[in-house]
Amino acid sequence: MASEIPTHTLNDGNTLPAIGFGTYPLTGDDGIAAVTSAIENGYRLLDTAVNYENEAEVGEAIRRSGIARDEIQVTSKLPGRHHAYDDAVASVRGSLERLGLDYLDLHLIHWPNPRIGRYGEAWRALIDLREQGLVKSIGVSNFTAEHLERIIDDTGVTPAVNQIELHPYFPQSVMRDANEKYGIRTESWSPLGKRQAPFTEPPVADAAEAHGVAPGQVILRWQVQVGAVPIPKSATPERQRQNLDVFGFELTDAEVAAITALGRADGLLFGGDPDTHEEM
Ligand SMILES: NC(=O)c1ccc[n+]([C@@H]2O[C@H](COP(=O)([O-])OP(=O)(O)OC[C@H]3O[C@@H](n4cnc5c(N)ncnc54)[C@H](OP(=O)(O)O)[C@@H]3O)[C@@H](O)[C@H]2O)c1
Repeated sequence: MASEIPTHTLNDGNTLPAIGFGTYPLTGDDGIAAVTSAIENGYRLLDTAVNYENEAEVGEAIRRSGIARDEIQVTSKLPGRHHAYDDAVASVRGSLERLGLDYLDLHLIHWPNPRIGRYGEAWRALIDLREQGLVKSIGVSNFTAEHLERIIDDTGVTPAVNQIELHPYFPQSVMRDANEKYGIRTESWSPLGKRQAPFTEPPVADAAEAHGVAPGQVILRWQVQVGAVPIPKSATPERQRQNLDVFGFELTDAEVAAITALGRADGLLFGGDPDTHEEM
């Protein structure tokens, strides 16, 4: 198992591991096996969502691992079709039922869906669910500064986390600054760049050679050093171990800057623009 994973303290006082495990699209028996392997390899933060249709598999993997519930953190996400207050409450209860858990460590609004315009209502539901103890920390995903400002102004409650698409081709400097301004921890989805990972780009390949690590480890270490929490997905036990093993070396400031400079205007690869993308 890799060395112990550092943690961040969130703005609500709870802690979050500095790296987690993405579970999309791990489903069925293979999905249970992959998540079980991730836990065995040392991951203590698991990222699922209602829309991944694998909450049951994640719950089963936790039970099979034999690791105590309070040593594993589970994140799930509220889908767009459940933004209405009562639907959001029922949705979180449904997530808990499928996971077989009595609380979630972190629950996020998956996408703001601003045209529909009910994310404020969803946020109020999450606040109440946190007060009831069903969710320890609450946050958002794919929120812009404007969406953040609106829910914070409306409720006085700041999300603990904003999970956004973030990788070397889309380093999200503006959103990282916006999150930081509010004391929100940035989490990175598609942290490696998924199928378009920049493994052979010179700043990544050169740093890998200099530090004697794999290109994927360089990218994940870059994530850690820019203050984001990456949640890489891998179905492969060897890659799971490798991706977690990023706390034994440090990139120089120049290496970090060179990787950040890979960002490009068309770097948003997968999720679309949060102002227009709709995910129900
Ligand atoms: N909030 C949102 O809207 C949102 C959107 C998308 C994703 N997410 C979350 O973010 C998680 C991660 O994002 P992602 O799965 O899109 O992308 P990713 O983690 O950047 O990339 C995953 C891909 O990279 C491969 N891979 C993993 N480690 C590798 C390594 N060391 N070397 C070479 N290839 C490697 C994996 O293949 P193998 O499995 O074959 O190793 C898989 O094809 C998801 O699982 C999900 O939990 C959230």
